[in-house]
Amino acid sequence: MTRYKICLLPGDGIGPEVIDCAVQVLRALPLEWDFIEGGIGYAEYQRGGSPLPEETLQKILSADATLFGAVTTPPNIPNYFSPVVRMRQSLDLYANLRPCRSIPHPSSRTGIDFMIVRENTEGLYSGIERLEDNGNRAITERVITRRASERIVRKAFDLARQTGRKTVHVVHKANVLRQTCGLFRSVAFEVARDYPDITLLEMLVDTCAMELVRAPELFEVIVTTNLFGDILSDEACMFVGGLGVAASGNIGADAAVFEPVHGSAPNLVGTGKANPTATILASAMMLDYLGESHHANSLRQAVETCIASGRTTSDLGGELTTNQMANAVIVALELNLERK
Ligand code: NAI
Ligand code: MG
Repeated sequence: MTRYKICLLPGDGIGPEVIDCAVQVLRALPLEWDFIEGGIGYAEYQRGGSPLPEETLQKILSADATLFGAVTTPPNIPNYFSPVVRMRQSLDLYANLRPCRSIPHPSSRTGIDFMIVRENTEGLYSGIERLEDNGNRAITERVITRRASERIVRKAFDLARQTGRKTVHVVHKANVLRQTCGLFRSVAFEVARDYPDITLLEMLVDTCAMELVRAPELFEVIVTTNLFGDILSDEACMFVGGLGVAASGNIGADAAVFEPVHGSAPNLVGTGKANPTATILASAMMLDYLGESHHANSLRQAVETCIASGRTTSDLGGELTTNQMANAVIVALELNLERK
């Protein structure tokens, strides 16, 4: 049996609770795991002086994949930095993946199953900002490179191919941002020539924001730049269950970090109300990444079985606690395994 080394980064708030649930679920699969743990976030800062110690980055690099809970952003501390942004930059986790898939729950729209592939390293989040004119003029540079555009578009096409999807939408605003979006757009059309089996469609970002509300089922894969992807992916997750179930992955050439979209939810710590589903679905994305798509699909199926039968935490209308919901997923998973 293949053995995988997984780095766990529980972090702050409900992070440790939901990571613990995901670990229990992963252990219920017929796979072998070695779990190591790394420190990240505010509690780690209070303990050792850094919210993302070098040792943690080394642990992530040494693992086959990483599962991350959430961190709390503390009140203004001068030498504090965002460990999430730093982690993405230090490890060059260039692709942010956000699956949007209907769940069998009244709050979710039906027939939706697409992936947003967001460039995660440059664009308007390049970090190049300055003030001029005595603080009366603020400038942020939007950096788009051929290299980063090409690798993110290839990632989108590869994902489309692996998952049997037929279209990729490149989302941009090249009619106004002629240079930056223009480059991103033209690289997308160049890359598309290598994927004759998949159709590249283009859409302006404002049109895309409307179409996502009007007819989200039309999309299969969306690839876009950093800021547009950040906004569209938060918009899209609200059609399919919201923060309790939204998962994401950050993929680079040397490391991959999977996480729930939600934060550390300090209001829920210790109440048993944190929905573990987002982190469990992040684990399913991790299984896909590890080449264990068969197990990833059984896990998603087990989660859907629980949601459809009302075995959920209170945010989805159920009566289960965080741990009870994880156990319900394990029971559904084991029933799936027995049937096969
Ligand atoms: P949040 O995502 O922690 O919470 C927003 C709302 O959703 C709250 O009402 C919370 O109770 C609810 N919620 C969150 N996760 C849930 C779950 N698993 N099940 C059920 N309900 C859930 O965002 P908020 O309140 O803006 O931020 C709290 C802290 O988390 C802040 O310090 C923020 O900086 C940090 N944060 C960290 C992120 C990360 O680590 N990637 C992402 C977003 C926020
Ligand atoms: Mg966001």
